[in-house]
Amino acid sequence: MEFSHIPVLFQETIDSLQIRPDGVYVDGTAGGGGHSQAILDKLTTGTLLSIDQDPDAVAVVTRRFAGNPCSLVRQANFSQMARVAREAGIDRVDGVLLDIGVSSHQLDTPERGFSYHSDAPLDMRMSQSGPTAADLVNTLSWQELADIFRRYGEEKSARSIAQAIVRAKEDKPIETTLELAELVKASVPAAVRREPGHPARKTFQALRIAVNGELDRLSEGLDAAFSLLRPGGRLAVITFHSLEDRMVKQRMAAWCEGCTCPPDFPVCVCGKKPRAELVYKKGLAPSERELEENPRSRSARLRVCVKLRDHALDD
Ligand SMILES: C[S@@+](CC[C@H](N)C(=O)[O-])C[C@H]1O[C@@H](n2cnc3c(N)ncnc32)[C@H](O)[C@@H]1O
Ligand SMILES: [Zn+2]
Repeated sequence: MEFSHIPVLFQETIDSLQIRPDGVYVDGTAGGGGHSQAILDKLTTGTLLSIDQDPDAVAVVTRRFAGNPCSLVRQANFSQMARVAREAGIDRVDGVLLDIGVSSHQLDTPERGFSYHSDAPLDMRMSQSGPTAADLVNTLSWQELADIFRRYGEEKSARSIAQAIVRAKEDKPIETTLELAELVKASVPAAVRREPGHPARKTFQALRIAVNGELDRLSEGLDAAFSLLRPGGRLAVITFHSLEDRMVKQRMAAWCEGCTCPPDFPVCVCGKKPRAELVYKKGLAPSERELEENPRSRSARLRVCVKLRDHALDD
């Protein structure tokens, strides 16, 4: 199986982790193994635990790193990384990488049902288990669907798309990507159909986020990663849209918060100290050159923090 993910912010991410040859690292989103390979290249006696929820990715990465004594590969959700690490005999780590979202492989494999460009079963499950996008579309009420399209896709025509779906499925369930794409196209105003980009783009993104519970898993994954890090360890997260980036930014800001005493207190009485420090104040965006070479990297952001201590009230 070919696995052609073009990694984004590649060198920036690897550099930001400051890999030590004897360190212990987790790549929570192994995908095609691009970032994992770069980490492994820097290890001599260290360990890299590569995790992905997609069995296809795990198969590829397992084969790619077979025989490398520094490599461990597991199929799991990264929200479970603390348990997976513990079961692999790892207590604390020096770095965690999360490269959030779908891989080019998942997007470009029509049978996975992520794409509105080719006809396939409406699936969209990264883990290849649990309810599919078709299950959601055919069982949720129009109000629930509209909420998903609005919240995760910022889709302005959420209500009319959701109502069109519910009307259409009264005749026959919606089973394929193109059935849904056509339905969306017919439900948005003519002016939107004339805009660049496919009119179903936001609806598909929203459904994908809902099917995979992406924001909840990211929230759990961030906390799991931070708890696994030893003081001095680094967390690097690459996101692809603003909802995820906002969550990463706010979570890192919360870890970085120190004293919360009112500004007019002469001395600190709360005793709180920052648990982390940002490596890039505003995060990093792809360079002009990367944008030219890989337009899909357009909305990517890298945020990195260093853990300082386990608890805010530690000395
Ligand atoms: C953008 S790709 C990662 C590409 C990888 N960095 C590389 O260099 O090839 C994202 C991968 O993360 C996986 N993934 C997304 N969310 C996940 C989660 N919650 N748990 C585990 N894997 C996840 C997807 O299945 C996909 O293979
Ligand atoms: Zn204080």
